[in-house]
Amino acid sequence: MPHYACNAQFQTCRIIENLQIADDTFRIRIESQAIARETLPGQFVMLRIHGCNDPLIGRAFALYDRYTEDHAQWQGIDLVYLVKGKFTQALSRLSEDDLVAMNGPLGNTFSVAPVDHLVMAVGGVGQTPMLAVGREALGSQKFGNEVDELIDGEQTLSRNGYAKKVTLLYGARTAGRLAGIQDFRNAGFDVRLATDDGSIGEPKPVTDLLLDLLEVAPATESIRIVCCGPEPMMAAVSAIAKEKNISCEVSLETPMACGIGICFSCVAKIRQTDGQWDYQRTCVEGPIFDSAKLVW
Ligand SMILES: Cc1cc2nc3c(=O)[nH]c(=O)nc-3n(C[C@H](O)[C@H](O)[C@H](O)COP(=O)(O)OP(=O)(O)OC[C@H]3O[C@@H](n4cnc5c(N)ncnc54)[C@H](O)[C@@H]3O)c2cc1C
Ligand code: FES
Repeated sequence: MPHYACNAQFQTCRIIENLQIADDTFRIRIESQAIARETLPGQFVMLRIHGCNDPLIGRAFALYDRYTEDHAQWQGIDLVYLVKGKFTQALSRLSEDDLVAMNGPLGNTFSVAPVDHLVMAVGGVGQTPMLAVGREALGSQKFGNEVDELIDGEQTLSRNGYAKKVTLLYGARTAGRLAGIQDFRNAGFDVRLATDDGSIGEPKPVTDLLLDLLEVAPATESIRIVCCGPEPMMAAVSAIAKEKNISCEVSLETPMACGIGICFSCVAKIRQTDGQWDYQRTCVEGPIFDSAKLVW
């Protein structure tokens, strides 16, 4: 019977490139056919710098994208990271042919139940899982261990998506921090932006973008919200979803140590069927949770 981390590989992998794509934000391309083939949207990998014990503990990063050079198979993955502390500062100094230790894919995935409109509400560096999520939703890419069919670098549309349209509501502190906008537009998402300082659009939080969208959404349209970002923002999105009776899944970025369910450093409070709450591990039972079950 499949269990968590049953497809996970622990590999030493070569960096193909490590590019700055926005203020303090990098996209790193890492070679690993197995991890590219197996990882599903919403899942993550644990990363360490090969041969380096400082920091000793790995960091989690969501799958952003996959790449191919030979147009025959996926050859590795792209991660997008914000330079924040010890690990990401060290990571940003690496370049082509340096090595990282990568463990993945890990964690659960977003729901793929059919819906008219998938609304992705993200803030900070919470946009990172959403490129893969939206592509799967629209049916433009399939993920997992099925055989990939690539023609001239484009995957054939061998599976229907589960959403008719995808909207990305993306909030950041300032315009320079918005990363990968063109990737999301190229993928066919309706992209709406908000910044705290008004350097793009009006200064407003991403929750206002969500309220604007819901106000004009047709009553007959089924909507599901998926959300990732700073915890207060996710809590606010969850409150809106609850008030409007819309289903909502959040991807938690709880700091993790092992990533595979052993240390319990990553727990979140989750409501049980009897109304009480209990701790669940973000790395195993998550990182994606039904927002209605989270105790913020
Ligand atoms: C499932 C999952 C997916 C993730 N995906 C990404 C991703 O795609 N891109 C990305 O940039 N990051 C992602 N993260 C966060 C990432 O794992 C690291 O926590 C982050 O990069 C900081 O590591 P650091 O060593 O640079 O900073 P540290 O030195 O560990 O911390 C710097 C400061 O930030 C605080 N901090 C660290 N982590 C968090 C956190 N998660 N929430 C709030 N405060 C924190 C610390 O307390 C400290 O004050 C993800 C986390 C999880 C659990
Ligand atoms: S990070 Fe160790 S149990 Fe989740």
